[in-house]
Amino acid sequence: MSIVYLNGSFLPINKAQISVLDRGFMFGDSVYEIIPVYSGQLFRLEQHLQRLARSLEAIRLANPLTPLKWQQVLQRLVDENGAGDQSVYIQVTRGVAERDHVIPPNIVPTVFAMSKPMKCERAQTGIAAVTLIDFRWKRCDIKATTLLPNVLLRQEADDRGATEAILLRDGRVTEGAASNVFIVSGDLVKTPPKSHLLLPGITRDLVLELLASAGIPAKEAEIDEGELRCAREIWVTSSMREIVPVVVLDGQPVGDGRAGPLWERAISLYQAYKQALAVPQAANVS
Ligand SMILES: Cc1ncc(COP(=O)(O)O)c(C=O)c1O
Repeated sequence: MSIVYLNGSFLPINKAQISVLDRGFMFGDSVYEIIPVYSGQLFRLEQHLQRLARSLEAIRLANPLTPLKWQQVLQRLVDENGAGDQSVYIQVTRGVAERDHVIPPNIVPTVFAMSKPMKCERAQTGIAAVTLIDFRWKRCDIKATTLLPNVLLRQEADDRGATEAILLRDGRVTEGAASNVFIVSGDLVKTPPKSHLLLPGITRDLVLELLASAGIPAKEAEIDEGELRCAREIWVTSSMREIVPVVVLDGQPVGDGRAGPLWERAISLYQAYKQALAVPQAANVS
């Protein structure tokens, strides 16, 4: 039975309960984070906590915990669940109040975190994706739990035999239904710039950092639909899936229909980065 954190207590998941009047349930008035854990260590924790703080600020909700307290809570959660490789989910809701759209004063937030063993979702051979119109709201930079559009888009992709939907707004790529998008155009790696229309992915930023450190030309620039369709390579990135090559787009092969050479380089840089982080812990253990 997994152990979860709820409002200051660690308890078995089947004992964790919240009110039906919680605004997270009533309105989706809440934000979340998902953090990968490798060998018991929270990966890019600082960046995830900074994004959580930005999401909370954007929805006018005071951060209930300091960064140090978050770290303590999350590390204990990881340890209680047997360390190893996990995915940690955090959700902070506005809290419980009589149903009213207006934000009630002095409301106490609901703070929840759970962890589960990491499912290895990495697709080494590549996935199929479809393009769909991005009909979400205009604050996709907030990691809000109001994910109904993403659910419907991802389901539409699934119905069409694809693993991910690549979203287009006004003829330009924004992101995936649950990922950021990169393309290789000529010899240049491109990903759309940060804006209110996409989530500032932690993996996206790390991939850009790693490409820069390896001297691989990459830039943040708008990608129009034509460029997407002519790309030599397409990748989608997320904390749980890391960097995944898209080898089929709308039923057509991307490049030669196989994971490309720049993806190979990017994923090996990513794995090397993870390995390097694991070294100090291995040294401590021995
Ligand atoms: C809509 C969306 N964009 C991008 C991402 C990737 O973000 P990260 O790399 O921080 O996991 C996610 C992750 O779930 C997502 O849901």
